[in-house]
Amino acid sequence: MFKYFARPMARIAALSGAAASLVVAQNGPAETAAAEEIPQVTRKESVFRRSASISIENQHAAYHSRFAGKHPNLMVMPVTPQMIALHTIIRDRTTTRDDFVFYSNRIIRLLLEEALSTLPFESATVTTPTNSPFHGYEFTSKVVGVSIVRAGEAMEQGLRDVAKGVRIGKILIQRDEETALPALFYKKLPGDIAERQVLLLDPMLATGGSAMMAIQVLLDQGVLEENITFVNLVSCPEGVANLFKKYPHIRMITSFVDPTLDENWYIVPGCGDFGDRYFGTEDDQHGERVRIFD
Ligand code: PRP
Ligand code: URA
Repeated sequence: MFKYFARPMARIAALSGAAASLVVAQNGPAETAAAEEIPQVTRKESVFRRSASISIENQHAAYHSRFAGKHPNLMVMPVTPQMIALHTIIRDRTTTRDDFVFYSNRIIRLLLEEALSTLPFESATVTTPTNSPFHGYEFTSKVVGVSIVRAGEAMEQGLRDVAKGVRIGKILIQRDEETALPALFYKKLPGDIAERQVLLLDPMLATGGSAMMAIQVLLDQGVLEENITFVNLVSCPEGVANLFKKYPHIRMITSFVDPTLDENWYIVPGCGDFGDRYFGTEDDQHGERVRIFD
């Protein structure tokens, strides 16, 4: 399936760690030389390289299945060829900002649809135009989205698109670039949040520090742990373990669990700094403002 969505030879140079290993496994020795030149931060995670005959989606699914037993409240999205193709684009360091935004939004939409499907429904019967009953469900949950600013804001529009009129709260948490320790700067949440199902939005889970801080803010506001669903694009075992150790009753939906973190607490292979790539601030060393009026 890979060949329909991506250009393997063009993309291999941009991949690192386990993702490069994965492409090697799929494409065989002819491409191994290119991959060998890439720093193999996560070579120890050789699960991806074990067999060239297993499809890429099965290799990822097998890796993800390791976590299913460990964390019963963790749901990893089905690893379809489409999902892998979307991830292949957002993980490619040569992807333009436009494409990064577009394809991240596609994954976000899939994740949010899945997240809503896991919330409680009640049975309901309607009458169709043929005057016949249709026995179904109605969505009765009161939902609120809470984004962990800044990167979590990238998920707000996706939520608005699938949950009409949804309220959205914000918690501004920033990770210290040196220590990766999170700091809380601001929060604004609906007054009745304790009665709602909360979809906590952040595309990246690295050490788990930011998500844990946000969850504590929600609990202090009276939200029940079991009413929190953390919706996330890319995670890693360290963050997932930290999260469930402290808050075992929350639920988490992610589209990918990557193998590990690097020495700067970035997810590898990951997709780099999500917020910078999504909002276009990769080069912004000085916080310059864009002038819209002269
Ligand atoms: C990123 C990301 C998470 C956090 C994950 O935000 O969006 O909030 O890091 O890392 P952790 O699990 O180790 O806490 P960052 O603080 O870089 O700010 P940004 O949203 O402005 O990019
Ligand atoms: N934040 C990001 O945006 N990416 C990472 O890999 C880790 C934290």
